[in-house]
This record gives sequence, structure tokens and C-alpha cells, in this order.
Amino acid sequence: MANEVVSVNHLVKTYGKKQEKQYTALNGVSFTVENGEFVGIMGASGSGKTTLLNILSTLDKPTSGQVLINQQDVTSLKGNQMADFRGKEIGFIFQDFNLLENLTAAENIALPLSLQNITPSKIKPLVDRIAKRLSIESVLDHYPTELSGGQKQRVAAARALVHQPAILFGDEPTGALDSNSARELLETMDSLNQEDQVSILLVTHDPFSASYCQRILFIKDGQIGQELKRNGRSRADFYQEILDNLGTFAE
Ligand SMILES: Nc1ncnc2c1ncn2[C@@H]1O[C@H](COP(=O)(O)OP(=O)(O)OP(=O)(O)O)[C@@H](O)[C@H]1O
Ligand SMILES: [Mg+2]
Repeated sequence: MANEVVSVNHLVKTYGKKQEKQYTALNGVSFTVENGEFVGIMGASGSGKTTLLNILSTLDKPTSGQVLINQQDVTSLKGNQMADFRGKEIGFIFQDFNLLENLTAAENIALPLSLQNITPSKIKPLVDRIAKRLSIESVLDHYPTELSGGQKQRVAAARALVHQPAILFGDEPTGALDSNSARELLETMDSLNQEDQVSILLVTHDPFSASYCQRILFIKDGQIGQELKRNGRSRADFYQEILDNLGTFAE
């Protein structure tokens, strides 16, 4: 369907070569993310969340199954095509920020554009615009070591969004933040989703983070076991429902 930004079909990932001990981390995962949706993936440690996100973002290959991002089968992309596709269509924020320490915030944010050989005169207004959107204009000339955790993650989010990717993936992006910075980041993600129609897939084992999503998929034993929908309810109500379901589906 044209309205799906992500479509995952029967995804399987087995670690270990034929002669070695094998471990199936993903065992037939299928789901979709609609354009403009904010979807969460929850599951216990070791349930396959990072494995899934790494395959979706073309950092890793599945054993079998299909991943479509904006109608493009990413599992069939090779070498440069894959790097090119990732650079244009995918934004990624990680738990540990992954900023380059010897570049300023502005240079870090500009990276996805520099890598596409966009000229500096075109880059500057794009960096300024996303920095304003994430309220980090005042730290653009600072190096990562001069920033707080919350500021680092905003810089990382700006870098993930500056090229206007089809989807923003987050792997526990609040995991290394204090509770205030975590809340601020989640509220920013919520507003990017609601106001700028950014499609987001957020992996987390934290019910508070998950309560910002519109829909949550629970992954257990390498499969999607349960789905919860917010259906317009308050975040507090959704948070309670997530807590009620955690024991059954994510432990
Ligand atoms: N490169 C690898 N080689 C072998 N096994 C792996 C590899 N990467 C992950 N695994 C295994 O696959 C399973 C899923 O790992 P994954 O990192 O996807 O879990 P996760 O849900 O992200 O966990 P966490 O919440 O702790 O981040 C785990 O049992 C892990 O040990
Ligand atoms: Mg993980």
C-alpha cells in the first residue's frame, strides 16, 4: 500500500554460521508503519529489538524475509546503492548519541548533507532550520564534550532529520538521559510527529517512553506477540495499559 512507509514481511534473522551454534533472534516478524505514524517496539532484553532495527535501517542483513521502505526493497540493495538509500531515506538516533567528537554540533548535523555532496551554501540554511526546530541554535559551534546529554541527543536528532528522511528510527534514544531530558526529547519527537508528520519507529523497554507512541508492538521470542493502540486516549491512560500488559508480553 502506498501509504506504508515501512512494510516488514516474514523477517527471520539467525545468528551463527552453519557449523556453529545457531540462534534465531527474529522468527517471522511482520508489521507495517503508516506514513506519519509513531510506532513503538517493546520487548525484554534480548528479545530482538536492536536486531530488528539494524535490519530495517540497512546496517544488517536478514536471513530471510522482506523489508520495504517507501516501496523500496532494502534487502536487495547492494554496496553504494544501500549507503545512498540509507543516506537519503533513513534517520537514526542511538542510545549513546554517536556524535563525532572532533566535529562541532553544526558539522555533525550537516554530515548527511555533506556526504551527499550538497554545497555548503545550501547546507547552512538547512542546518539552521532543523537546529531552530530542536532548540539547539545556541550550541551549534560547540563540540560534543561541551554539551549536556539532552543537548547531545537533540544534536543527534537534528542530524537524523536534516535530510528529511522517510522514517526516523530510534533505538532507546532516551536510555542515557536523565528523566527531564528524556521527557523533553519524547515531547519533541511527539511534536515532530504531530506537526511535521515525521514517521517514527521507536524501540524501547521503557513504558514511559512507549506511552508517547500511537501504537505499540510487543516482541517476544523473536515474534510480535501483541499490539496495543492508544486510540486517542490520554498518555497517562495509555501508560497504565502498557504497565498492565508488560508482565504478560514483555517479560
Ligand atoms: N552479532 C550477534 N551474534 C550472535 N548473537 C547475537 C548477535 N547480536 C545479537 N545476538 C543475540 O540475539 C538476541 C537479540 O539481541 P538484540 O540485541 O536484538 O536484543 P534487544 O532486544 O535489542 O536487547 P536489549 O534490550 O538488551 O538491547 C540476543 O539473544 C543476542 O544475544
Ligand atoms: Mg537493544
